[in-house]
Amino acid sequence: MVGYDNLEIRPLCRAFGAEIIGVDLSRPVDDDLYARIYAAFLDRQLLLFRDQDLPPASQVALGQRFGEVQVHVMNQYHADGFPELYFLSNLDDNGEPSGKHPDKGTLAWHTDGSWRRVTGQATFLYSVEVPKEGGETHFCDMYAAYEALSDVMKQRLEGMRAVHNLDFSRSRRHAEDPMTDAQKRAAPPIDHPVVRTHPETGRKCIFLGDHAETIAGLDYEEGRGLVEEVNTLAVRPEFTYCHQWRPRDLVIWDNRCLMHRATSYDSARERRVMRRCTILGEIPG
Ligand code: OGA
Ligand code: MN
Repeated sequence: MVGYDNLEIRPLCRAFGAEIIGVDLSRPVDDDLYARIYAAFLDRQLLLFRDQDLPPASQVALGQRFGEVQVHVMNQYHADGFPELYFLSNLDDNGEPSGKHPDKGTLAWHTDGSWRRVTGQATFLYSVEVPKEGGETHFCDMYAAYEALSDVMKQRLEGMRAVHNLDFSRSRRHAEDPMTDAQKRAAPPIDHPVVRTHPETGRKCIFLGDHAETIAGLDYEEGRGLVEEVNTLAVRPEFTYCHQWRPRDLVIWDNRCLMHRATSYDSARERRVMRRCTILGEIPG
């Protein structure tokens, strides 16, 4: 392949994740390179590209190679001129740390856009400024989490559907800035299978996370209990990769088979500026 003879795919941990070395994403991604990146994405579920020069327009353009980019209903996070980008910054209007975490919902295990009918396929998260301590992102393998369930639990979950609701998770985690009525109307609760089959790999995985409120057809509290139980069972250290950010990292992951969460940092002293875009995938089946 012309220009990409040095491309190297280096696993990040045993089960999933790979660093892609030898690619400069500020240059156009031709069809051959895209095919190699997409194959690695399906195979490894998460890709890391270090030291990338990726201004907002390039990030959106790269995302569009994967598919339609979601315009997030929480429009206060949109970046000027780029409704496709979601800004996570703790800086105030003077560019100083404000002491406020921009979105505490990200600190709980979740999968992006699970509260939509058409859920998130890939997320592209790019680091502009990162704290010296904390502010990592953890990822957990939901294929492995499903395979590790007992046969009894697998049977119990078969055919079950969870109700995902952004208003539920937002009120629970970031109650000081609730959704507006218009935002709530644009993101009503919807249901998805608890066990989904990845449309491209054909493998089964758990699909829950923090936006999942309860189970359709069960008593509310019983459903809440089951969602919490399976969310807790799913996450194990041996299924988890912790990403320690450097500035100018791009991480692309598959929301259909990974959960993720951010870790906290001192938002009054440290600086953390990230931008993400999420690609629309499909209706889970
Ligand atoms: C998000 C998210 C993780 C992070 O924006 O959806 O989960 O580390 N971010 O900021
Ligand atoms: Mn997220």
